[in-house]
Amino acid sequence: MKILVTGGLGFIGSHTVVELVNAGYEPVIVDDLSNSDPKILDQIARIIGYKPVFHKLDLSNENSVKELAAKEADIDGVIHFAASKAVGESVQQPLKYYRNNFYSLINLLEVYSGKPLNFVFSSSCTVYGQPEILPVTETAPIQPAQSPYGNTKQIAEEILQDLITSGSNYKVIALRYFNPVGAHETALIGELPIGVPQNLVPFITQTAIGKRPKITVFGNDYNTPDGSCVRDYIHVVDLAKAHVAALKLLEKDNFNGYDVFNIGTGKGNTVLEVIHTFERATGVKVNYEIGPRREGDVEQVWGDVTKSTNKLGWKAELGIDTMMSSAWEWEKYISQNPL
Ligand code: UD1
Repeated sequence: MKILVTGGLGFIGSHTVVELVNAGYEPVIVDDLSNSDPKILDQIARIIGYKPVFHKLDLSNENSVKELAAKEADIDGVIHFAASKAVGESVQQPLKYYRNNFYSLINLLEVYSGKPLNFVFSSSCTVYGQPEILPVTETAPIQPAQSPYGNTKQIAEEILQDLITSGSNYKVIALRYFNPVGAHETALIGELPIGVPQNLVPFITQTAIGKRPKITVFGNDYNTPDGSCVRDYIHVVDLAKAHVAALKLLEKDNFNGYDVFNIGTGKGNTVLEVIHTFERATGVKVNYEIGPRREGDVEQVWGDVTKSTNKLGWKAELGIDTMMSSAWEWEKYISQNPL
């Protein structure tokens, strides 16, 4: 089965390409390289033993997507990662986010609308905002979005639901990711932030290796066990495997329409716990300081994964120690072997 993986050279996309091949699928990668490096294709090839087909193109350009569909008419499914994802940037440049994230989605859906297609969409736990009940289930109320980025995820889910309601040929699963971290066990692929990392774990690894003098913990006065924010960190390889599980469910004759799943471990860790786990798992000290809260951060969120366990038949297997040690192996690799 041939699966189009948009954003397939990105952090989650590249790991998913590897897991698709492990599961016997044939991935076809699309990426505009706006937030990824073309050499990741070679890195993927080193893991899976061959270079998958790759199309460099901007999915928000309708003509490019039509050309793509002409070349890749025989695909069986789409995993749609390609999107802009920096929360702060989306507040500064909302139109960039609405253009990129919506045009890409709609162009793809339109161009393949003639055939039955399985479609997996990358959504986010950001749709829950600060949930009242934890762990948060898929039926929790969607909160007003805190950023244009978050809004694109909410509206994209609605677009997909409306499409299914209209009687389209598509079958759709939206996966609401919690916080993806870690790297492949070979240390040949991992997270590749451009410029100063915005996310916690790449900031920790860059501090540990000496690229950054210190990391600031954004607040220690939250109502949590040690005062720092709580998130549900999920190993990117487990997350990648959830996409394979989603395709398998979509392929079943009795799956119809649209469904949504939380993809996390079901456990929360504070920022300070993550830093201390990194130190314990790697034996490397991290220079950190406590700073003010970051605007827009939710205090705590972790997912209820009962539905994904039961219906998707998927469960996270790798723990926070492995998340930290694999992220560290990748940081060391990339420092010694810049792409
Ligand atoms: C954020 C988005 C999420 C999005 C994801 C994509 C929000 C509320 N959530 O997740 O929707 O899918 O980015 O990248 O904006 N932290 C520090 N110091 C740092 C960096 C982070 O203390 O230098 C803390 C943050 O305050 C947070 C935790 O680490 O408590 C995780 O932060 P981060 O990795 O940025 O992810 P989220 O904010 O949870």
